[in-house]
Amino acid sequence: MKERKISILVILFILLSVSGWAQIPVYLDESKPIEVRIKDALSKMTLEEKVALCHAQSKFSIPGVPSLGISELWMSDGPHGIHEEQLWNAWDAAKWTNDSCTAFPALTALAATWSTSLSAEYGKAIGEEARYREKDVLLGPGVNIYRIPLNGRNFEYLGEDPYLASQMVVPYVKEVQKNGVAACVKHFAVNNQETNRMDINAILSDRALHEIYLPAFKAAVQEGGAWSIMGAYNKVLGQHACHNELLLNKILKKDWGFDGAVISDWGGVHDTKEAALYGLDIEMGSFTNGLTSESVFTYNDYFLANPYLKMLKEGSVPMSTVDEKAARVLRLIFRTSMNRNRPWGSFASDEHHTTARTIAEEAIVLLKNKAVIKNEKPLLPIDGNKYRNILVIGENATRILTDGGGSSTLKVKRYVSPLDGLKSIYGDKITYAQGYEGGKSLWDREEVIPEARIKLLRDEAIQKAKKADLVIFLGGLNKNYHQDSEGSDRPDMRLPFGQDELITSLAAVNPNIVFVLFSGNAVEMPWIQKVPAIVQGWYLGSEGGNALANVLSGKVNPNGKLPFSFPLKLKDCGALSFDSSVFPGDGVNVNYKEDILVGYRWFDTKNIPVLFPFGYGLSYTTFQYGKPTVSSKSITTADSLVVTIPVKNTGKVAGKEIVQLYVNDEKSSLPRPLKELKGFEKVSLEPGEEKMVSFTLTKEALSYYDDKKNTWIAEPGKFKIMIGASATDIKGTVDFVLK
Ligand code: BGC
Repeated sequence: MKERKISILVILFILLSVSGWAQIPVYLDESKPIEVRIKDALSKMTLEEKVALCHAQSKFSIPGVPSLGISELWMSDGPHGIHEEQLWNAWDAAKWTNDSCTAFPALTALAATWSTSLSAEYGKAIGEEARYREKDVLLGPGVNIYRIPLNGRNFEYLGEDPYLASQMVVPYVKEVQKNGVAACVKHFAVNNQETNRMDINAILSDRALHEIYLPAFKAAVQEGGAWSIMGAYNKVLGQHACHNELLLNKILKKDWGFDGAVISDWGGVHDTKEAALYGLDIEMGSFTNGLTSESVFTYNDYFLANPYLKMLKEGSVPMSTVDEKAARVLRLIFRTSMNRNRPWGSFASDEHHTTARTIAEEAIVLLKNKAVIKNEKPLLPIDGNKYRNILVIGENATRILTDGGGSSTLKVKRYVSPLDGLKSIYGDKITYAQGYEGGKSLWDREEVIPEARIKLLRDEAIQKAKKADLVIFLGGLNKNYHQDSEGSDRPDMRLPFGQDELITSLAAVNPNIVFVLFSGNAVEMPWIQKVPAIVQGWYLGSEGGNALANVLSGKVNPNGKLPFSFPLKLKDCGALSFDSSVFPGDGVNVNYKEDILVGYRWFDTKNIPVLFPFGYGLSYTTFQYGKPTVSSKSITTADSLVVTIPVKNTGKVAGKEIVQLYVNDEKSSLPRPLKELKGFEKVSLEPGEEKMVSFTLTKEALSYYDDKKNTWIAEPGKFKIMIGASATDIKGTVDFVLK
């Protein structure tokens, strides 16, 4: 009997072998654990094949292992839509006709929704677009903290608060990756300025690093499960971030247990040995050798190409380095391009445009809304029956704001401009005057606009404004050089292109004026007293015009809140209140002297008034907060604490309120900010409706980073919970003791 069983097994084995089944190599067998497949693939690869995985073969791809049928990996910017196809070895567009995408609102706008479910929808939709376009790695989201209002790339990030950024990044990453597309969270780390961006050395305390600049990355890795991370251009504590022993080997890979691949920023690698030893896995480049001059096609000259191969052969860097890098790249490939079960994706669909519009609607922030005549209704929402002639002024009413800004620029299928959006609601009542001119979108300079042209546009706008019933000024920045763009910081915090003077003149001839600010940064508003209604309109993507018109007309009740503070003036900001060594640095170092006091942490603790605080935003309705209560008056570090507060819509229209929870540690061994955001909830309320809003806090919400002990500490003592409608509008407080 036993012999018979054995012979049946033998026959079965022979049959399987003949039919080819038994020959599926382990690395291709998706029923096998991924780690077993990686080990098998590595055992079949030559040293040259392993090294080839560690560097680019074109501007946006790396090779797979052709001899083994392991596929290539294709990457794309990110983070607001899928970039048009580019040429193999040049920055020019490939001029395909099938690559016009959906532009989603910029990430600052996403942060302004304070909605984790919208962040999930964003990730799902952009992940589907990446998948459809056969991209395996999406170069985004960006989660660098908004340190100063001058950073040219703030619009690509999630604001000034590490807790808000952490909460918002996780669903984005998870949903992108459900498509079998890796999120590549960037730029790791402490990448907060464009001035001298390739080399500036950020000097900061461990405490600022862990409390402010790392949490969003940590959340993306540990909670979001990000499969890749992009190293930043700058240096951090003396070493380039793309090969940084502390950031990549110790913190990211060892402490956080990151098992994905570290991809360099384009041209961010500077040294083969450091790249071999200090945590980089894939070198990408802007030009031929990761440096800055384009000559012939020489991807083999990259730091992690032939020079690395040579060092490995000579024994000057250990073989284990290439095995680890190749293993991480294979893991990334198996999770993405070789994942046969991933969905197919979809592209520029109506559904994606609806997602883009919903996010845009919830991102818009109402900053000011006063009545022009005492005791009358506020200027917004705009009642179409009240006005015969509505004059729209400003270049941003028609300018395509998905263009420009550097690598996040997008070729879009649809762009509803604010002018079109407003016309679709108010029809023929709308007339238009450009008012000012921002010039062409150039990478490294501003276009000079002739004085005569500037005067002509201004005079025309002022003349028309005199005759209009209502003026809507759509201005702000425009992603040009110096105006919210990669590669350059803003020179100051003022509105460019003569807009301050123009707004002042317009308000003088017509007091019925609404100003909409398109930007990813705060601006000064010297004319604020003269303008009754102000709206923050961000960069809202393909459907921005419809979203804005819906908010201005009252179809949508505004419900976004600011993810960063608007200071009154530049000098009030933490990093700008010192000398230039703190920003932009001396060309070599930039010293983060403001330490953990970034954004509202600085303004609050130093008692500096702001124009608009972090977390601020108005509504067409009003909300009333009750008294907050806690589940217990004293807890241990093992317990959690539930904080509850009733919130009621006391106005006449339905609305959404973003309820914020801040923690204050009354006494601590190390100085702490006056308050820190540790919870938020967006709650939807019908007129008259009241809901209980609850937050659950654990010891993480109470902890600070002790850089002597290198650990997080929740120190026993009294804590105050503050529930607010913004960082400065605290509606109620409640105390408890941590034992
Ligand atoms: C940017 C990255 C971008 C990459 C590829 C770099 O210059 O810093 O954010 O993903 O280019 O375009």
